Amino acid sequence: MSKKKIILVAGARPNFMKIAPLMREFRKFPKEFAPVLVHTGQHYDTAMSDVFFKDLNIPEPDINLNVGSASHTVQTARIMTKFERVLKEERPQLVIVVGDVNSTLACSLVASKMGVRVAHVEAGLRSFDRDMPEETNRVLTDRLSDYLFVTEPSGLVNLRKEGVSDDKVFYVGNVMIDTLLAHLPQIQKGPVPKRGQPPKRYAVLTLHRPGNVDSTFTLTGIYEILEFVTREIPVIYPIHPRARKMIRRHNFLKAFNKLDNLEMVEPLGYVDFIRLVSKARFVLTDSGGIQEEATVLEIPCLTMRENTERPVTVDQGTNILVGRNIAKIIRSVGAILNGRAGKPTRPKFWDGKAAGRIVKVLSEQ
Ligand code: UD1
Repeated sequence: MSKKKIILVAGARPNFMKIAPLMREFRKFPKEFAPVLVHTGQHYDTAMSDVFFKDLNIPEPDINLNVGSASHTVQTARIMTKFERVLKEERPQLVIVVGDVNSTLACSLVASKMGVRVAHVEAGLRSFDRDMPEETNRVLTDRLSDYLFVTEPSGLVNLRKEGVSDDKVFYVGNVMIDTLLAHLPQIQKGPVPKRGQPPKRYAVLTLHRPGNVDSTFTLTGIYEILEFVTREIPVIYPIHPRARKMIRRHNFLKAFNKLDNLEMVEPLGYVDFIRLVSKARFVLTDSGGIQEEATVLEIPCLTMRENTERPVTVDQGTNILVGRNIAKIIRSVGAILNGRAGKPTRPKFWDGKAAGRIVKVLSEQ
């Protein structure tokens, strides 16, 4: 039996925890699969990339495209040009892409044009908000994919409505939760990473989406929210380099720094970040993945967006969509701090075995 050569693509921070369990699973079957890991270099800083490879024990990428930062169009085009060369050289049978970042779309488009089959892990999620660059990436990647691996029931519904044939769609669960559960013992062991004495009670903030940090108008709203929240509880904010740049550009960095109870720290590695979240009273975020991680950790999550592509985290999990609505935030924070947060249930197949299901599907093809 000849080995199946499979290229796995990782580009940006939220991809790494999805790639780790897949690499581990493929390596269990060395006679069947020859996995090749390609890092596009969309994220390249130590804190945005290297630390995740180390924390998650991901092997060094076989190929690094080193594309770096640029406008969305230029970044996507650079990845495409370089990835085409990789496919010509490597001639894989399958390309696996994960999530919804620019690297995801760029590589699936190249593979599709070159007649290489595409598998999309985390398919079918829809925010129905085309202002988010990730929504374009999700919709188009799913159109191009031959295998669509779905994390939650909404994914099945969305793909069916879009006319994707059922035989391409597989409900396998959530590989990011595979990573979370695999690291839980290590996460629960150590101290929370914070300079000085960690406060007994705190909230975690993550905020990086253009829709929140790219204008004076939205940052004014965020500042008011933080004024309120930091009066109630200390807030720790590991800050994405892009968000720091935008907050500085709009002259909010000093004002943020002056908030007594707000501590802005460098971006954290995987284990440190999840540990911080797991001991927090709640998370205030605009991230996608954190909505899922908070659900499994049973930590209340207030999502500063008007919509979510991960509705199961609202229906079953700890997630509440609060946007930048200060009244909703005051109500939700009050309920959480008074112990009135609901008890979540873990979505089906968020059980640490999703990567195993994916590899099983692929080995049967
Ligand atoms: C990307 C993803 C987003 C994800 C986020 C998580 C897309 C469209 N967006 O957004 O879905 O939530 O990653 O981190 O793919 N930068 C650095 N160092 C790095 C990487 C980026 O300083 O290692 C700065 C640069 O100024 C860069 C900016 O961040 O221009 C934006 O990076 P980019 O990868 O284009 O998008 P993100 O905002 O990180």
